[in-house]
Amino acid sequence: MDPLRNPYAPGAGTPPPELSGRQEPLEQARIALGRTRLGRPTKGFIAVGLRGVGKTVLLREASRMAEEAGFRICFIEAYEHKRLAELIVPHLRRLLLDLDRVGRLTAEVKRGLRVLKSFLSGLKLSYGDAELALDIDPEIGAADSGDLDTDLSELFSAIGRAAVARDGQVVLFIDEIQYLNARDLSALIMALHRCAQERLPILLIAAGLPHLVGLAGQAKSYAERMFDFPELGALGRADADRAVVAPAAIQGVVVTTPALDAIHAAAQGYPYFIQEWAYHAWNGASGPRIHRSDVEAAAGVAQRRLDEGFFRVRFDRLTPREKNYLRAMAALGSGPARPVEIAEALRVKPASVAPLRTGLIGKGLIYSPHRGGTAFTVPMFDAYLRRIMPDWQPYHQTLG
Ligand SMILES: Nc1ncnc2c1ncn2[C@@H]1O[C@H](COP(=O)(O)OP(=O)(O)OP(=O)(O)O)[C@@H](O)[C@H]1O
Ligand SMILES: [Mg+2]
Repeated sequence: MDPLRNPYAPGAGTPPPELSGRQEPLEQARIALGRTRLGRPTKGFIAVGLRGVGKTVLLREASRMAEEAGFRICFIEAYEHKRLAELIVPHLRRLLLDLDRVGRLTAEVKRGLRVLKSFLSGLKLSYGDAELALDIDPEIGAADSGDLDTDLSELFSAIGRAAVARDGQVVLFIDEIQYLNARDLSALIMALHRCAQERLPILLIAAGLPHLVGLAGQAKSYAERMFDFPELGALGRADADRAVVAPAAIQGVVVTTPALDAIHAAAQGYPYFIQEWAYHAWNGASGPRIHRSDVEAAAGVAQRRLDEGFFRVRFDRLTPREKNYLRAMAALGSGPARPVEIAEALRVKPASVAPLRTGLIGKGLIYSPHRGGTAFTVPMFDAYLRRIMPDWQPYHQTLG
């Protein structure tokens, strides 16, 4: 069928034609927003899930809801080795300048800007100045101690007050929040805690890999009580089918049950895989029905696209030693593996590969599920590694 009319949307953060099976977390987001608006105590919301389950898409949808409802929003994507202050300051500056612009002169908003200025001097951030220029004197003694915990709390509090002065509420969206380092995460949680205590309307809606829950708990033990951590997983059969059927139906195209069986067998409910398989099945079908044979015929191209895109971008960031470590995991299957077993497969002592494991967690390739062990953050990465490193044998390798 005409690829121009193809409704499916494989990609990173690409909104799907049908956001299937996520009513529950969306409802949670709606309630959190509503309570923030009413000035009621509200838990923040951090969605966790593996790669490609739809975290970014969910966050984008929540930010659309917030924007529509008139919230002030900052949308930030964290990445490895980037400091929170650097990520967040340009957004907070814009937010404060917006608040400053919308009405009469307000002491709280001006103070917010001055505190932001002193926050910058405390942290000695080096920026292209145009991005940060603030034509205002710093608030000496506020948020400029150089200690991030104290300063960020002070800054958030000042921003919360500025928002209140304008009858506004702020939502901070952070994607890939697991990439924040322990210090930044701890300061962020503290700052939000302070806002909650002062009943200031700053809400966090974030998303990250599953081990974020543990990281937040380590950063501040009370984090577990401050946030909800809805888990985004693979879609159940009915939701997975709806993701394929509904967008086709709008264009008068039917997807047969055997075709859905085949898509489900291949994608196992993972949203990214569903989009990729449905996309190629559509292109290959002569229409207006998508049959099982169309899905089967699309297998080659769908798999190739996944291998060359989704999996490959992750694989290419690895050192040879990291590849070997992950390949040893893959040899042990798709489930969580115990570090001892992995080390055995590599013929090394567990302690000698512990730094490697830590590095891979930092890169977001693996995590420790709460049941224990080490697991891939990328669904079906084990099968990919076996495909791309076919000659690798456990117990016969050196680590590289
Ligand atoms: N609920 C859903 N129903 C159908 N398709 C979805 C759904 N959620 C996401 N998708 C599709 O899955 C793909 C991946 O979505 P997204 O980029 O949001 O995942 P992610 O969890 O942020 O992945 P990553 O961890 O790699 O950043 C996109 O192509 C998107 O259109
Ligand atoms: Mg994402």
